[in-house]
Amino acid sequence: MTNPVKLPAWTALKTHVTAISDLHLRDLFAAEPQRFELFTLEACGLLLDYSKNRITKATLPILTQLARESGLEERRTRMFSGEKINSTENRAVLHTALRNITNTPVMVDGIDVMPAINAVREHMTRFANAIRSGEWKGHTGEIITDIVNIGIGGSDLGPLMVCRALHRFAHPRLKMHFASTVDGDQITGILSRVNPATTLFIVASKTFTTQETLTNAHTARRWFLEATGNPAAIAKHFVAVSTNTEAVTAFGIDPANMFEFWDWVGGRYSLWSAIGLPIALCLGPDNFQALLAGAHAMDRHFAETPLERNMPVLLGQLGILNRNFYHFPSLLISPYNQALDRFPSYLQQLDMESNGKSVDLDGLRVKDYETGPIVWGDSGINGQHAYYQLLHQGSQGVSIDFIASIEHPDSPSPHGPILMANFFAQSEAFMRGKTEEEVRIELTAQGLRGEALEKLLPHKIFEGNRPTNTILMQTLSPESLGALIALYEHKVFVQGTIWNLNSYDQWGVELGKQLAKAIEQELIASEPVTRHDASTNGLINYYKQRLLGA
Ligand code: F6P
Repeated sequence: MTNPVKLPAWTALKTHVTAISDLHLRDLFAAEPQRFELFTLEACGLLLDYSKNRITKATLPILTQLARESGLEERRTRMFSGEKINSTENRAVLHTALRNITNTPVMVDGIDVMPAINAVREHMTRFANAIRSGEWKGHTGEIITDIVNIGIGGSDLGPLMVCRALHRFAHPRLKMHFASTVDGDQITGILSRVNPATTLFIVASKTFTTQETLTNAHTARRWFLEATGNPAAIAKHFVAVSTNTEAVTAFGIDPANMFEFWDWVGGRYSLWSAIGLPIALCLGPDNFQALLAGAHAMDRHFAETPLERNMPVLLGQLGILNRNFYHFPSLLISPYNQALDRFPSYLQQLDMESNGKSVDLDGLRVKDYETGPIVWGDSGINGQHAYYQLLHQGSQGVSIDFIASIEHPDSPSPHGPILMANFFAQSEAFMRGKTEEEVRIELTAQGLRGEALEKLLPHKIFEGNRPTNTILMQTLSPESLGALIALYEHKVFVQGTIWNLNSYDQWGVELGKQLAKAIEQELIASEPVTRHDASTNGLINYYKQRLLGA
């Protein structure tokens, strides 16, 4: 475990970047017309074009050296083999075992976890088939038409994102709903649209202690019991996904209706586990299996391919280059498939909860290098008409990952070509920009002369030189989506390793939870609050007065 700044490759990279930093991406493309051939890689149905990064042929060996010196290969082996690399929680990190479709044994504490994984998967398959076929009936004998997943963070974002992304494969009868926030508006809205006799609730929580989820689950149960007056009917309409059997039983869900997973599955890495039950229900067990197979293919690629041709390794290294050497503070995820509109939110949790840390694996404060970037984004084409202005001409740069599929089966002509023309145009624009000379020629051709031309000219210049990656897949399918998600999971692993972080804990979410618990009591009490700082006291007291109409 080493501070990366102390590694020889870090120093070498610094020297190298200083030497090439004056070169504009245009210069690099002019000097190396073969950049597409040189800097693209295909794996598991994905093409990664990384040629529009500020790199030369000399950059990659240094990046690879950095990954080697950071112990990436050893740590990768330790993760796949079930060692407890999540050191602050003393847990293994084995989302890869959940999609280990070859079934080779994976040992944790001397026990092969594969039989338990397979047993839960079979339970999920049986249950999903019964709901989808109509064999599973609600308490009145009617078939299930609506599924409400109640969960938050990793127990929400993954299933929600996958069900949206692959909606083309969705069961025509089953309507999916996702309740995450504790703002009662959301669950109440869902409950107003569903029929208790035909609705299945999935209470999804790894810990089964998450306040938002349990509050929503209790609200749903109350609503259900008020409507049906029949506690025995709960067994037909409520199932749980959790690692906490005791709490599930205490909530009133029969353990026979519980789908288990394990502490070695991180919340943000859990869609492959029983947390993926909404996926199996909506898309079917076969498509869920295909999603796992796509991710497994990426796992094999990551585990077995030399670092130089390894896609997650490359993507991770380029992220390090852009974050630590070119100092880009954020990474925009810009998908041009509308169905991937929730993919950036999913990646936000994956990346920011994993590598948003400033204490390293040795417990030392990280002082001399930046860690995880801010990850953000939504549908790329919408972004073009909103925040792309700043990305093109704002005072600070952003690195960008563009993602699209070649085929858009549900897009009638001329939608597909228009969408993809914009997709290609944007990465070209971020790379090239537009020079003063080009603007001058353009304005002159438009008939502008003299003062009018000079006045407008500076506003129309684009600096360009923004680093971007482009990921293309043939079509958005369960397999390609599985590979895409696993690509980013392993990218996060690569970066966490180089930054010497534990990417698998999330202590940073605790403080807010603790404070909220105490404040919740204060909101009920009648006396004014005085124990906080002036701002927090003032806000709470203002809220209480206004709420009571005082
Ligand atoms: O508070 C953050 C977090 O713990 C995430 O890491 C997790 O995905 C989410 O809350 C939900 O947790 P649970 O599945 O235990 O309800």
